[in-house]
Parts: sequence; structure tokens; C-alpha cells
Amino acid sequence: MDFSQAKSRAEELSKLLHKYNHEYYMNDQSLVSDQEFDHLMEELISLESLFPELKTPDSPSQRVGGTINKAFETVAHSTPMLSLANTYSEEELIEFDKRVAKGLEGQNYEYVCELKFDGVAISLQYENNTLVRAITRGDGTKGDDITDNAKTIRSIPLRIDSPLPRLEVRGEVFMPKAVFEKLNKERAEADEELYANARNTASGSLKMQDSTQVAKRKLDCYLYMLLADGHESHEEALDKMVQWGFNVSKTYQKCSSIQEVIKYIENWDEKRHTLPVETDGIVIKVNSLEQQNLLGFTAKTPKWAIAYKYKAESACTQLKSITYQVGRTGAITPVAELEPVLLAGTTVKRASLHNANEIERLDLHENDFVFVEKGGEIIPKVTGVDILQRKQNTHQVKYITACPACRTALIRKEGEAAHYCPNTEHCPPQITGRIEHFIHRNAMDIDSLGERTIQLLFEQGWLNRPSDLYKLTYDQLIQLEGFKELSVNNLLNGIEQSKKAPFEAVLFGLGIRFVGKTVAEKLIEHFENIDALMSASFEELVGIQEIGERIAASVISYFEIEDNRKEIERLKEAGLNFVTTVHTKASSSLEGLTFVISGVFNNYGREELKKLIKSHGGKVVSSISKNLDYLVAGDKMGPAKKDKAEKLQVRIISEEDFESLLSN
Ligand code: IVH
Repeated sequence: MDFSQAKSRAEELSKLLHKYNHEYYMNDQSLVSDQEFDHLMEELISLESLFPELKTPDSPSQRVGGTINKAFETVAHSTPMLSLANTYSEEELIEFDKRVAKGLEGQNYEYVCELKFDGVAISLQYENNTLVRAITRGDGTKGDDITDNAKTIRSIPLRIDSPLPRLEVRGEVFMPKAVFEKLNKERAEADEELYANARNTASGSLKMQDSTQVAKRKLDCYLYMLLADGHESHEEALDKMVQWGFNVSKTYQKCSSIQEVIKYIENWDEKRHTLPVETDGIVIKVNSLEQQNLLGFTAKTPKWAIAYKYKAESACTQLKSITYQVGRTGAITPVAELEPVLLAGTTVKRASLHNANEIERLDLHENDFVFVEKGGEIIPKVTGVDILQRKQNTHQVKYITACPACRTALIRKEGEAAHYCPNTEHCPPQITGRIEHFIHRNAMDIDSLGERTIQLLFEQGWLNRPSDLYKLTYDQLIQLEGFKELSVNNLLNGIEQSKKAPFEAVLFGLGIRFVGKTVAEKLIEHFENIDALMSASFEELVGIQEIGERIAASVISYFEIEDNRKEIERLKEAGLNFVTTVHTKASSSLEGLTFVISGVFNNYGREELKKLIKSHGGKVVSSISKNLDYLVAGDKMGPAKKDKAEKLQVRIISEEDFESLLSN
């Protein structure tokens, strides 16, 4: 292919990809399958790498990232990015309306109401209809140039269709609720610390140095302000923005009086929870630009606009008791057991109390009435105590001093807020917690074993450490109540299959503090077997990118413990993988194909099968969609999965079919 052919194909691809992207993000329309989209994108990327001149700043290939920003350049805003004054009540809104009326000296006026999206403000500059710069709010007068990162946000157009040579728009970048929940679920499964809320996560994501990582965060953006000439009202500006290709939320509304504004606020109070984005209020703006100018600004905020903040979702209920959970690391978490109460659409019975400091800060007494809140966070928390409802002669809550499970005196490690039970070896929830972690899907993936069976085996005295799993026999298990030949064989088979789990999964399964799935994968890239890792020095560990001092210290101290080393010996003897399998690519025979695997297989463990697919160029996903190529079905596949696959006409293949697919 010569340059001119490549150029015309690249242009064609760009046009198509822009169109598909626009329809998908602005109009909720999928014109092509994800696979077809990725395919075209890959073709464009390869043309651009062949002829780098083809890589324009507005090429759709910018969506996938690929640039590293060591530090973001600070740039000045064309006009300051102001904030809004807040109001919390109808009375305050009426006051605002009076000020507007007074400022406009008897003129008629209208408002435009919008939702207040809880994200990070951004400013986008376009020249000749191409996005040239994206800047964060910063201190309002200058912010960070995060253009490369912003380009990965698919609802930010790289190219627009306006008659103006240059223009600027402003809006809010956010992480959709569903994306945030999924991200946190994955982090929980990988034993990584959870993100507090969607807003902070969006803000952190925008400032990541590697734009490829930003692309994976699936951020979204609504625009709500146009800085350009040629329109007379805010409503007109919003209309134009939509016409030119910007993503404007359809939730705005023109109101001709403050009473109508109040209705809008009431209307969205509950309904806003159904939106994909977190919102914390309403923004009310005078519609006419001429009137906006007339009203002007205070030092920090416009006088023609105001925010109304909804009250944080909170409820008051009585504390019944406090329970203390013991995690697998021995950390104690206090949990408030509450009289059930309705909060933001769900019934809340329990709320986190975090640690002893928090209980002290709240000055919590037995049977107190407490306020619970659900912010952007997932778990509701106790935010305060209603002193007025406190009965006389109640006692202050006393934090436990002994482990609720094994009665050992608790300790507090220096610099940590949590109390710990130091009885690592014999404390029951720590033992069963470690085993639950060991069999987790991201570790040994033994799904024939659940929490209840672990408890049962522990009570029998047969299961005190992961290696005991590999000593269980048919004769033992068949004695257990509720266990039949089939379930025993199933369990034993699951345990046997787990021996095929790759080294990184075993390493994660050991439950070394701070060694989640990602860290385990990083470690095995450097240490090809457990002996190498065990003899690594602190300096060697921190020398690895992404391994900090906290992780390194934790790894070192784990291997210093004699019991841990003995357990590794036992697991080695049981036949587990403590050596990396080769990373090289076997073939490209499954290139471009996506798979879901489900059920139990005869010749492979699930992780092993996943690796096999990947090593032949295929992709493994977890949920069934119409774009899926194959569902590889093992024994005992869930009926729901099967139904869904049939409905969407996804090909369901057996283990044998898969093997022949591979050999073809
Ligand atoms: S207009 C001069 N509209 O709220 C007025 N802001 O406290 C500029 N925000 O920094 C803001 N949704 O980050 C406006 N529909 C909306 C908004 C909105 C969220 C944020 C924005 C701004 C902050 C003001």
C-alpha cells in the first residue's frame, strides 16, 4: 500500500469511527458491533504506525491513549472558571430570585435549570473544529493541560461541526455510577483498596500519567457552557452545542418563574438517582446573556446563577448493637447493627463504624439514635448522633479489648487505626478467612467449595490451612452431613483442578498483605519462581516499578515467618505451581475472537483455559453479549448463562469443540 492509498483509507476509517462513536455516545445507537469497531480502530492504528504523518490530532486513534505525561503543563484560562454560590432551601432560592428581579429592574426574565453533575470541571478549546486543548479547573485562573487524557473520553468530540473558527466549551467530566461500581468490584476481588467515591476517582483518573490507563477508566462528560459569540441566551447556546456535536444532558429545562424552578427541583429529587451520573443538586441560570451581563459577578461567583444542593441522603435510626468482624489479617471492623431504615431507595440495617477512633469521635452511647448517610460511597456510614433522643443513664460504647472470636487480647499496630487480633495461627475467622481467600476466583478458583463447607471442614478439624485442602479424602468427606457421592467428587475434582492454577494466582492466594492480583502479576514478571521471590531483598523489591516500600516490607515480613515458609513447602509438595509458565504467544489462531468460559472442564482449570485462549490471541470476557463469538461450556454451566447465550444466538461449544477450533 502506498502513501496515497493509506491516506484515503485512513480518512475513510476516521470518518466511520467518528460517526459510530458519535451515534453511540450521543444517540445511544450502535451502528456496528464492538468487535467491528475495534477492528476498524486497529486498522487505523496500524496505518498510522506505518505512515506517522497520518496521525492527526483529531484521529479517533487518540481515544485509546498511548501517551505518557510526566508532568502536566499549567496554562491560564481564557476567562476564569468560577464556582457557584450554594443554597439549601426554598427560602434562599426566593431570596436569590428577589436579587435577580431587583438587578433587572422590572424586566421579564427566565431561568434555565440543569442538574449539578458531581464530577470535575473541564474546559475544552476548539480551533477549526478540532479539539486543541483540554484544561482542568485548577485554581480557577489556571489549570493543567490534560488534552491527551481528555481525548480518551469518548463523549468529548475530537472534531465538531460549527461555523466558528474557534470556540471554548466547559462542562463536567465524571465516572458513570455503573463504571465506578464495576471498578470497585474488581478491586475488591483483586484485594485492592476500594475507591471512596466516583467523583474523586474521576478526578484521579484525569490526572493519570498514562493516557492508555485513562482510556480504560471509561469516563464520560457533559458540557454545559459555551464561550463564543453569536447567541443570545443560554438555551440557544445549549441548542447549538447539541447541533455541533457536543454531549449535553437532556435534563435541562427552561422555567419562567422561581416557582417553576422549585417544581423542577422537586421533580428531580428522587428521579436523579436513576441517572447514570451522580448529581448533588441543581444549577439555576438566568437565560438571557444580556441580563447575565447586567447582573454581573461577585469576586468568585456569578450573580446570575446559583446552585441548589439536595440534602445528603440521610436518615435517623436506633443503634441496636455493635458487632465486630475479624478479617483474615486479624483486623477488627466495628459495624453498627441498626433498626432497619429506608435510605435513598434501599433498606439499611448495618453501617460501618470504621474503627475505635471513629466511635470515640461520635461519642457513641448504647442505643443512641444515629444519623446514617449514603454519599457517593457504597457502604452507608454513621455520621452523627442525635443527642436529643439519647436516654438518660446510657453508657458510652466501650471498644472491645479481646477478639470476639478467640478472646485473645487485641493489639493496635503503630500508625494504624485498626485493632488486630494477634492470634494468627488459631483464631477461627482468620483461618477460614485465609482459606476463603485462597480458593477465590482470582486465586485457586475452587468454586465447588463455599464458605459453609469451609466452616464445616474447619469444625471437623480437617482444614486449618490451605495445604490441608490437598489432604482431604473421599472417605472423610462422604461422612459429612449433606454430602453425596456426586458432591464429594465435585469438590475433590475442583481441588485437583486447582493444582493447575498459574503461579501468579497461587501467589495471590497466599494472602500476603497488599499483594493483590495486580501486584502478584507484577512480582512474577520479575521473579520466575517462589525461591527467587523469597530470597529477594527489600532494595530489589522496591526497584520494581509499582512496588513501593509498603508492599516490599510486607513481602519480606511474610517470608520471614517460619510457618509461612513451611506452608509453602507443603503446597509445593501438593503440586501447586510456584514457577512462571512461559509468557510467549503460542499462535494467532484465535485472533479477534471473544470467549466466555463457564462451568467445569475435564482437561483444564479455568485460569488455565483463559491463559490458553489469550496465548492464541483470543479475548476472554465475563459476560454474554450479542457480540460474543463463543461460549465454551463445561460441566455444570449455569442455566441462566445458557439461556442468555441461546437468546442472543451466541455459539455454545464444548471443550472438545474448543480444542478442534484451536488446532484448526
Ligand atoms: S455552571 C459560572 N452548570 O459546579 C458558572 N456548573 O460550584 C459555571 N457543575 O465548577 C458553572 N454541573 O464543576 C454549571 N450544570 C452545571 C454544573 C456545574 C456541575 C459544577 C462545576 C462548577 C461547580 C460550581
